[in-house]
Formats: sequence, structure tokens, C-alpha cells
Amino acid sequence: MHEVVVPAFAKLNLSLLVLGRRGDGYHELRTVFQTIGLADRLTVRHQSGGPLRITLDDPLSIPGNLVLKAAQAVAEAAHLRGTWEMRLDKRIPMGGGLGGGSTDAAAVLLALPALAGRPLTMAELERLALSLGSDVPFFLHGGTSLGLGRGEELYPLSTPAAGHVLLATPGVHVSTPEAFRRLGRASVSELTLPDPIPTLETFRALVAALMTVRPGAGWQRYCHNDFEGPVFGLHPELSALRRKLELAGADPARMSGSGSTLFGVFPSRAKLREAGESLGGAPVVLTRFMNRARYRAAWFRALAKVVRTTQWPPQSPYASHASSSRRSGPPRSTIR
Ligand code: C5P
Repeated sequence: MHEVVVPAFAKLNLSLLVLGRRGDGYHELRTVFQTIGLADRLTVRHQSGGPLRITLDDPLSIPGNLVLKAAQAVAEAAHLRGTWEMRLDKRIPMGGGLGGGSTDAAAVLLALPALAGRPLTMAELERLALSLGSDVPFFLHGGTSLGLGRGEELYPLSTPAAGHVLLATPGVHVSTPEAFRRLGRASVSELTLPDPIPTLETFRALVAALMTVRPGAGWQRYCHNDFEGPVFGLHPELSALRRKLELAGADPARMSGSGSTLFGVFPSRAKLREAGESLGGAPVVLTRFMNRARYRAAWFRALAKVVRTTQWPPQSPYASHASSSRRSGPPRSTIR
């Protein structure tokens, strides 16, 4: 019997541009994902032997919990057997644009094969991840990434320094499909226009700014979220809250994903604390940017009982007996 408690970190979209509707019904995105320190905790207990049995203790009874779907998908792909008992302790606000459900699903995809000693390649994990949701693949990597396509085409970026983050969670629920519909985007086939060059230029400027400009020195003008227009139209209080963050010195102050969480980035912990106090009792979380090395280090600490290498995705030393008959060669590197 093995038991581990793994972290499932939240993300922000530092910027999120929605270009147009694709033939498959999804939208073409240009986004910058950023992992932050706020995390759910997933406890996984595994007893080998016997037929496959998966259970989830979910104190919040989340409808359609992706944890179970992810466990079923990865169990099938990695030919897992035995008993899997999971427990999910939520800390990431739900339906808030912070990727809570997606990161829980990715945590399952990383943890179960590692515990069973039946590793999957990163390509296999990415395929499963995308079948669960557009931003699940990002959580297999963590850190800072450019996300193209549905958000699954990922290019690692270095993590900007000094990212002290305030999250304000006003408790407004925004439906993601509804937010996309409200954008009323044209089909991608018409996307040679209206203005591809400014869009590309905006995005290039953002990436350059993230690499060179410190928060507090002008990120706001490079970071956009196309959902703010339609979502603030429905919930004007979110716009007022974003203004408060700006006045408290946040740079940028934006909504994450399709909302409704607003975030402010501050250049120091002192400024972050001051801002937290200035919001006067509204529910806030204070956290930080997390880079890819720290993301992986947190995973290796959590899996220390079963994983003794620093290969990614994490693998237990018992791995080879289970997988060598099915595949040739080591798992592919995750970095594109
Ligand atoms: O992929 P995921 O299940 O997270 O997407 C939820 C919904 O958000 C989709 O059904 C779709 O309506 C919308 N979506 C989209 N384009 C994307 C990602 C999501 O239209 N790139």
C-alpha cells in the first residue's frame, strides 16, 4: 500500500486573446499561462493486485468531477489494476478561471502511473489531458508558457521575477461556454482579417515585456483579457474591483480566464500586503508566481516515497518491469 499527497497548482492567464471560432467548435487562443502557489491537495492511496477499483472522496461533491474521469482515462491507457482511493481537498475557488478542475485532472494523470510504476510518455499524457479539457495539458508542465491553439500547444517561457499575486474571488459564477458565445467571434476561416498584424504585434510585445519589464513598471498595457468586456458587462462589480486593484498599485490587474477571479501582480510582498488590507475584508488570497523548476520540485517532494529520479513525467524505480514490454525507448522529454 502506497499513499501520497500531491499538489495541484492553480494558473493565471496573464494575457488571453481569443482570435476566432474554429471548425471543431473551439476558439483559437493566444494566452500566457502562469502557475501560482495556490494549490488543491490530492491524496492517492494505492493497493496493488486485484481488479481495477477507483473511488473518490470529494467533500464538496463537485458535479462531473474531472478527477474520476482522469483516473478512468489514465487507468485504461496505462493498464492499471488494483485499488485506487483518492481524496480531493479543494483550496482553489471553483469556476473562477484559475483552472481548478483542470489541474486536479492533470495531477491524477501524473500521479497514478508514477505510483503504479507504469509510466506513460509525455505525448500519451498530453493526449489524455486534452481529451479532458483545453488547459489540462498546461498543468502537466507548470511554470510559464505561451499557449496557442485551444491552449494545448505550449511553448515554455522563463518565469518573470517578483510576481506577488493577489487573487480576489467575488463569488460570481461565469459559464465558460457562455463567455465564449458572448464574445461572438467570427470563424477562423475569416481570420486573415480584420487585423492579424496588430494581434501578432500585441502578443509579441507582451512576451517581450514579460521577459524584460518588471511588474509595477507597465505590464498592464501588454496584458489583455478579451473576456473582460462581455463578463464585466454582465457583472459591473468585477470592473469596479479591478479598478480597486489598479488603484492599490497592481500591474497588471486583470481577470483570469473567463472569470470571475481577478488578480493583481505586485512587485514586492510589502506592496501585496498593503493591497490586501486596502481591499477591506473582500475575500482575497495572497500567493506568488511559481516557475517550472519549483513546480517539479514540489511534485518530487510529494512523490519522494516512490520516485527516485528527476525524470519528468515522474516515474518510480519499479517502472521498467511494467512498461518495457509495451514500448521502446525512454519517455520523451517534455520541453518543446
Ligand atoms: O476544453 P474545455 O472543456 O475546458 O472547454 C470548455 C468549453 O469552453 C468548450 O466546450 C467550449 O465551449 C469553450 N472553449 C472554446 N475554445 C477553447 C477552449 C474552450 O470555445 N479554446
